[in-house]
Amino acid sequence: MGKRGAMGSTCFWLTAGAVGALYWLGARERPALRQPSAVPAIDRPEIIETWQHMSAQPHIRYIQQKLVRRAVTGLVGARVLDVGSGLGQLTIELARQPEVCEAVGIDLSADLVEAARHQAETVGANARFLEMDAADLSPLADASFTVVISTLSLHHWAEPQKALAEIRRVLAPGGRALIMDLRRDIAAPLFGLAALVTRYALPEPIRRVGEPLASLKAAYTPAEVAVLAMKAGWENPTVTTGPIWLLLEMG
Ligand SMILES: C[S@@+](CC[C@H](N)C(=O)[O-])C[C@H]1O[C@@H](n2cnc3c(N)ncnc32)[C@H](O)[C@@H]1O
Repeated sequence: MGKRGAMGSTCFWLTAGAVGALYWLGARERPALRQPSAVPAIDRPEIIETWQHMSAQPHIRYIQQKLVRRAVTGLVGARVLDVGSGLGQLTIELARQPEVCEAVGIDLSADLVEAARHQAETVGANARFLEMDAADLSPLADASFTVVISTLSLHHWAEPQKALAEIRRVLAPGGRALIMDLRRDIAAPLFGLAALVTRYALPEPIRRVGEPLASLKAAYTPAEVAVLAMKAGWENPTVTTGPIWLLLEMG
């Protein structure tokens, strides 16, 4: 075998070994049943700061903008609700769209609502933030929103079916609901990679709370999400998937 052949063969075996190791780790870590996360929110100050930094990365912003366009394209004077709005970046992005006349973010955490209000004020965005549980949106009127959207929050909700029923209630006839989250049933090597990233690669405050592995273990599968939506009274829900995410939609 020539020098190049030997190098190719070494590369092949190294890659195969790495994929095999990731597969083994992922298969060991990935739970068959979901494991609800012990960390319900991202409201510790050091996590807020790190999350703020991470979610300003260009690839996260790109995904966010694609979702925002999907949510509002073709609408006029839309009223939009962001459930589990966290630091409010998505709500603020929605408020900036010409199709949107009102953007409201709700979150369980008073600290995050405060941080989101501060952020909206800083950038001069016309977005409102309220402290509320997704499972009890009673301060919001029936059929009062054209769009309800949520990102990376569903797997934290203690009462997901109740929350999806509330989303259904506040959505106007013909409105759009888009719930995006991680999915637990990702390929074993990807789960293995997430385990490694959680242990060794991410900023310390995020690693300390075991993320993103904890969220992946708490996430639903596409089938589980479809069942939840149907039990919550959603009409013809659809679930589309990517390598690590799922998108539950109605309308
Ligand atoms: C990982 S963060 C995602 C924040 C934001 N949507 C984003 O994509 O950056 C999850 C958010 O869901 C919120 N949350 C958890 N349980 C909730 C509930 N029952 N009702 C409303 N918000 C909730 C948390 O406080 C947190 O802000």
